[in-house]
Amino acid sequence: MKQIDLGNTDWPVSAVALGIMRMDALDNKAAVKVLEAAHDAGINYIDSADIYGDGKSEKVFGKALKKSDLKRDDFYIQSKGGIVSGKRYDFSKKHLLKSVDGISERLGIDYLDAFLLHRPDPLMEVDQVSEAFDELQRSGKVRHFGVSNFNPMQIEMLQSGLSQRLMIDQIQFGIMHTGPIDFGMHTNMTDPGSINHDGEIIEYARLNGMTLQAWSPYQYGWFEGTFIDNPKFPKLNKELQKLAEKKGVTKNAIATAWITRHPAEIQVILGSMNPQHITESAAGADVALTRQEWYDVYLAAGNMLP
Ligand SMILES: NC(=O)c1ccc[n+]([C@@H]2O[C@H](COP(=O)([O-])OP(=O)(O)OC[C@H]3O[C@@H](n4cnc5c(N)ncnc54)[C@H](OP(=O)(O)O)[C@@H]3O)[C@@H](O)[C@H]2O)c1
Repeated sequence: MKQIDLGNTDWPVSAVALGIMRMDALDNKAAVKVLEAAHDAGINYIDSADIYGDGKSEKVFGKALKKSDLKRDDFYIQSKGGIVSGKRYDFSKKHLLKSVDGISERLGIDYLDAFLLHRPDPLMEVDQVSEAFDELQRSGKVRHFGVSNFNPMQIEMLQSGLSQRLMIDQIQFGIMHTGPIDFGMHTNMTDPGSINHDGEIIEYARLNGMTLQAWSPYQYGWFEGTFIDNPKFPKLNKELQKLAEKKGVTKNAIATAWITRHPAEIQVILGSMNPQHITESAAGADVALTRQEWYDVYLAAGNMLP
C-alpha cells in the first residue's frame, strides 16, 4: 500500500484508512474479520469519533482488537470529539478532556495517535482548546492533533493560540463531492460550481503541509448511499467500469485512485464493513490514473469544464 507523509512530517501512514463509524452494527466475529481484512490490505490507520454509534463503534473495535491476533501497534488510531450529538458542539476544556478519556476507555488503549475536533464550534474559545491540548499532550494521552470540516480561516484562528501544530483536516471529498476543487475551476464565474463552500482548503493544506482526509469517499449527498453500481449514476458507473477493466481492479478501487491521484496526497477514509469491499477499495491506492483518466471520471460524474 502506498504510504503518505502525514502532516508533512516523517510519519508515513497508509494512503487508505479504515473509518469505524459503521462498526456498531457488527458482532465481535465480524469486527475481527474487518480489522484483519484492513490490516492484510496494508491499512495501518484507523479513524473513529466518540459519537459513532453513541460510543458503541469504539467498544466493538476495542473488543475486536483484543480478540484478534493484531496488536495495538499494528494501527495508528485516531478519534474525534467536540460534538454532543443533537445538542451542541462543545470545545470546552472540560468536554475535550472527558471525550478523550471516554474514547481511550472504549477503545481499550492508553493513547491516541491523533485527536481531531469534529466540527467547528462557533463558540470555540482558543484558550480552552489550547489548555486541553497541552494537558492531553503532557499526559501522553494524545500524540498529534487536527480538525475536521474546518475552513482555512477557522484553522488559522485556532492555530494562532496553540502550541501544537494542527496536522490534519478531515473533509468530505470524493467523486460525487467535489466542491473543494469545483470552485477553483469556476473562479470568476457566477454558476453554482463557483460557490466557495470550503474556503481554499485544498490550496491551504498544500501550502501548509497539512494532510487532508477524505470522508465518505464512495457516498453521494449527505449519506444518501453509495454511487457505486447505483442506477442513478449510469454515466459515472460506465466510466468507472471501463477504467476498472483496463486496470484490472474494481469500481471502488478507481474511486479510491481518483482521490489519491490528487497531488495534495489526500488520505482516503473508507467506511465499508465488508472485508471484500475493504480489500478491493484499498487496492485503488496503488492504481495510477493518467491526467485524462482523472478528468474523464470528473466529467462522467456530471461536472463540466468551463
Ligand atoms: N469527519 C466527519 O464529519 C465524518 C463524517 C462521516 C464519516 N466520517 C468518517 O469516514 C468514514 C467513512 O464514511 P462512510 O462509511 O460514509 O464512507 P464510504 O466508504 O464512502 O461508505 C461506506 C458505505 O458504502 C457502502 N459501499 C461501499 N462500496 C460499496 C459497493 N461497491 N457496493 C455496495 N455498497 C458499498 C458500504 O457498504 P459495505 O459495508 O457493505 O461495504 C458502506 O455502507 C467513517 O467511518 C468515518 O470514520 C467522518
